[in-house]
This record gives sequence, C-alpha cells and structure tokens, in this order.
Amino acid sequence: MNDIPIRIMQFEFDANELRKSLRGMAGPLGLSMTLPYLEPYLIRTMREALNHTSDPLVEAEVRQFIGQEAQHFRQHRQLNDLLRNCHDGYADIKQIEDEMEADYQRFTATKSLKFNLAYAEGFEAATCALARNSMKYMGTDGEMSDITKLFMWHLTEEIEHRTVTFNIYKHLYGGYFYRLFVGIYGQYHFFRYVYRFARFIAQNQPRTDETQSAGMRKRNRKRRSPKAAFALLGSLLATYLPWYDPANLKLPDNVVRLSEKFSLEALETRGAS
Ligand SMILES: [Fe+2]
Ligand SMILES: [Fe+2]
Repeated sequence: MNDIPIRIMQFEFDANELRKSLRGMAGPLGLSMTLPYLEPYLIRTMREALNHTSDPLVEAEVRQFIGQEAQHFRQHRQLNDLLRNCHDGYADIKQIEDEMEADYQRFTATKSLKFNLAYAEGFEAATCALARNSMKYMGTDGEMSDITKLFMWHLTEEIEHRTVTFNIYKHLYGGYFYRLFVGIYGQYHFFRYVYRFARFIAQNQPRTDETQSAGMRKRNRKRRSPKAAFALLGSLLATYLPWYDPANLKLPDNVVRLSEKFSLEALETRGAS
C-alpha cells in the first residue's frame, strides 16, 4: 500500500493576498470552488464501495483516501468562504455551487456504484496528471504563502492516493471501456464547473490596482506556459490507454520532499504506514 497519511493542517489565508490573486489565479480558485461538492460525493461513493469490498488492503487504502479527501474539502471551503466574502460581486457564485451540489446528490441517489466509481477514477486520474505537471513545471522551491501551500499540500496528497479509486474499481468491476467512457464524461462534467467558476471569478473581480507579488506572477507564468499545457495534455491522454495503471507512474523528484515537509508541518498525522 502507498503511504497515505491523513494530515491535519492549519492554514491562515490572507484576504489581501487573495484579492491580489483574483486576476492571475481564477483557474485554481475555480477548482477550489468545486471541491466542497466533488469531494464529499467521492467520499459517499467510497463509503458505499466499502460495503462490497473483500480485500483488506484495498479497504485500508480506501479508508485513508476518505480521510485525506475529508481534510481537503474542509480546507478549501475556508478559502472559498473568504473568496465569496471578499467582494460583493461574488455573492451570486452560490448559484453555481447549488447546481453542482444538486448534480452530485442526484448521482449518489440515482446512479450505480459502478458509474460513481468510474467517475471518481476519471477525476483522480486527471488530478494526478495535473498534480504531477504542476510540481514539474511550476516548481516548489522558495517561500509559499498559505494559499499556495493549500494547493501544493492538496496536490501532494492527490499523488499519494493516486491508486485508490483505480484499485477499488478493478477489485469490484474490472474492465476498461466503461471506466474509460464514464471517466471521460466525469472529466467533462467536472471541468465544465471549474471553467464556470473560474469565468465567474474573472468576470466579476473587483476593479483594483492591487498588483500580484513577483513570486505569484512567476508561478502563474509557468503554469500557463505552452510547454506546461502540452505536457498536461500528454499526461492526461496517457491515462486513457488500456495499460494505464497509476501504480506505474513516474513521479516528479519533489513529491517525496513535499510529503515529508507537509507531514512535519501538520498539526497531527493519522494512519501513516
Ligand atoms: Fe482531494
Ligand atoms: Fe483525490
């Protein structure tokens, strides 16, 4: 089993820094807005899957996965609350949040476990590709603000639990085409919401002359470079191949260093193997 420690983190988000980030970070902030809806849906799905699991190793991984995801959406919810409250023009973002929550409640109530697990694996495969790319192209050196740290901690843990949804799907159902097609549908469904949130944040941002810090500008430039975009597309397409298995992925060198760093910074760590 991979090491999937549940880290209880403490972040102090700076409202001023957040206001300065609105211009350059609408994409990551749009992603953050989805997580208090997406991750509880993943947790509901995995809890249901546990009722059908007969492999103790798969079960242990799933429990650690649930623990990590539960911390992620709680931390992102704090950042999202700050975002919603930092500017009057953001109050209506709640309408997109409600729509997304209704979708996921409907999926839990009406879709099969097989569908929901294939959706989960589509999401996890995409976020693991995104995480590996961000670490490789954005770099992880230098001082990080707590907002940047939140994303880096989350991406690190997405890499740590990269095999979990894949393994439980294989354990309960196996097969390739259903997982692939529902996974791609899941990615379309999910990233459409990321895009809608990001567009809302960008279009409704306050008129301000506050400027980004040099470090923030540098990271945003790297994130948006054509080289990083092509590499991300390549990593994502590789997850669609029949022989894709997240256990065989080559990880960026800095993953181990970040895992150790966040374990040291955690208030508490539960269940590290
Ligand atoms: Fe997560
Ligand atoms: Fe995840």
